Amino acid sequence: MLRNILHRTLPHWGGKWRTSASLFQPFNHTAPERYPWLFRFVRDETGDGPEHRLLSFGCSIGDEILALRRYFPQAAVKGIDINPANVAVCRYRTRRLSGVVIETAGSAAQEPANRYDAIFCLAVLCNGTLTAMAKERCDPVLYFDAFARAVADMARCVKPGGLLCLTSTNFRFCDTTVASGFDVIYRANEEHISPDLLYDRNNRLMKGARYAEVVFRKR
Ligand SMILES: C[S@@+](CC[C@H](N)C(=O)[O-])C[C@H]1O[C@@H](n2cnc3c(N)ncnc32)[C@H](O)[C@@H]1O
Repeated sequence: MLRNILHRTLPHWGGKWRTSASLFQPFNHTAPERYPWLFRFVRDETGDGPEHRLLSFGCSIGDEILALRRYFPQAAVKGIDINPANVAVCRYRTRRLSGVVIETAGSAAQEPANRYDAIFCLAVLCNGTLTAMAKERCDPVLYFDAFARAVADMARCVKPGGLLCLTSTNFRFCDTTVASGFDVIYRANEEHISPDLLYDRNNRLMKGARYAEVVFRKR
């Protein structure tokens, strides 16, 4: 069934997302129960309920959506991904869940302001080839300015008091302007700190830098 859906629709999609200036991580690796420590923390902070709204930015083929539904059985969950093939698979895998919407998008620009209780942007704002190549500069693979734009869009969509969750990024949220409107409320344990290389505002490698900050509350 899934193969039929992809076969029918893929030729019309083309590969425009591959050359989009908004693209970060091109690889769609994901896994069930990839971040239990994070999902548990956010659920304990925000609670769950029919009025709660969650956004999975870069939901890939759906494991994150399925996990969010388990941790937040009542919340409305939206998933977006820049790659339409991931979206098709994700929609298929989540088709029996109520309160779940999956769309193709490369940013949160179309999302209303102050909408979400929590936004999860996990293993998206990075590029695996950077870590593999250990380059001194991240451009032209990624640019800090694109990261800053992406997180500014998400910051706008988090409700006051809501949470923005970022992990496995090649840049630090604390280097962006919008970070001043948020408080850090969760730092990852040593074992959960992302191994991704970190680059500064000028796209230069910050040798040996590590970044444990993961969950930010909007003031
Ligand atoms: C490594 S997967 C992460 C999947 C999931 N969040 C997880 O952590 O298991 C990265 C995903 O981000 C998506 N992606 C990359 N750039 C994006 C963008 N600008 N907007 C939305 N999705 C994007 C990719 O298509 C891919 O599915």
